[in-house]
Amino acid sequence: MGSGFALSGLQLQPNHLLFSSRNFTTLLPASFTNSRHLPLLKLQNQPSLISSCVQVNSTVSQGTALSDICSTETYELADINWDDLGFGLVPTDYMYVTKCSKNGKFSKGDLQRFGNIELSPSSGVLNYGQGLFEGLKAYRKQDGSILLFRPEENALRMRTGAERMCMPAPTVEQFVEAVKMTVLANKRWVPPPGKGSLYIRPLLMGSGAVLGLAPAPEYTFLIYVSPVGNYFKEGLAPINLVVENEFHRATPGGTGGIKTIGNYASVLKAQSAAKAKGYSDVLYLDSVHKKYLEEVSSCNVFVVKGTTISTPAIKGTILPGITRKSIIDVACNLGFQVEERLVSVDELLDADEVFCTGTAVVVSPVGSITYLGERVSYGKTGVGAVSQQLFSSLTSLQMGLAEDKLGWTVELS
Ligand SMILES: Cc1ncc(COP(=O)(O)O)c(C=O)c1O
Repeated sequence: MGSGFALSGLQLQPNHLLFSSRNFTTLLPASFTNSRHLPLLKLQNQPSLISSCVQVNSTVSQGTALSDICSTETYELADINWDDLGFGLVPTDYMYVTKCSKNGKFSKGDLQRFGNIELSPSSGVLNYGQGLFEGLKAYRKQDGSILLFRPEENALRMRTGAERMCMPAPTVEQFVEAVKMTVLANKRWVPPPGKGSLYIRPLLMGSGAVLGLAPAPEYTFLIYVSPVGNYFKEGLAPINLVVENEFHRATPGGTGGIKTIGNYASVLKAQSAAKAKGYSDVLYLDSVHKKYLEEVSSCNVFVVKGTTISTPAIKGTILPGITRKSIIDVACNLGFQVEERLVSVDELLDADEVFCTGTAVVVSPVGSITYLGERVSYGKTGVGAVSQQLFSSLTSLQMGLAEDKLGWTVELS
């Protein structure tokens, strides 16, 4: 039988992959793991279908039982340059999709091949912006298992946003199960430890057709994923922000406190102008007094003075970041005094250190702030000590390098 070997009547070949589940087994050349070639497996109601993908290599000896292979299995990673990841879309294998009609209950979803979706030109999301998104990450541990970070918090935030946008939302349990299912189906795209993470992007949208302004008659909940590296090209190197005086991200009574899609289209103009001038992003002020800090386009902001760390309080115009909430707890546990309150632009300019937090940016130190044409720089030696300490504490938890005493991580295997 050459260099292959038989297993339950199946001829295994070196450098082939065995896809198996309780009721399905097939062999694929390793080259088929390239996303363009991976065949569309029928996954409906069979979430465990690709639960066992093992690389069969020439070191596996003849007569090896399936259980032996599984116990020594090496998961094949996607064939990409893991050192080259930025924060751009890398198409993966599967996405999760479920829909719900007016009764407000989402049906049990399916994994589908990642790809374009069909929408009515008259859908609520395209015409009236009835849409929300979420963002969370999965990290691969040294032992190959995968960790999610506080996924139930994203589920709860999506439910809050859905209520504001007159949309039904998946339950917390449904959301978390769907995230797990999507990550496991795309596990070969979770970067090796230290190379990045798998960014998970749940979407909730009014997919039903409407013409007059009204909530859509049908909703789609979809999750896709992409491996990512650093959000800012600077990595952990400090970013340069400019305080925006003309445009505002949110107003009292508006939707700044939820993750609705329109909040992001509306910051593009100021962000593009800032980037064209060499800044990394824009820091927004409150729209009433134009004096107090709100947040950056897609992350929260913290100001350090001595052993006190202050961040703008959540009052409807600022997104309640899950990283923000986690950093507050981590900083308190490390002995810092943390204050959630109004933080003025004067305090910002007088700070010892400034940093931003978010799922995508993690903890990103700020090197300089430009306000009304004046530039203030922080620290002479790059990353500030407090930012570095908080970054290390949080990422060790997220990556499973430190004991998770708070029960924030969810392990997938
Ligand atoms: C406007 C805005 N603020 C803050 C954050 C940070 O939130 P989180 O830490 O939950 O990612 C995000 C990112 O999602 C955001 O879009």
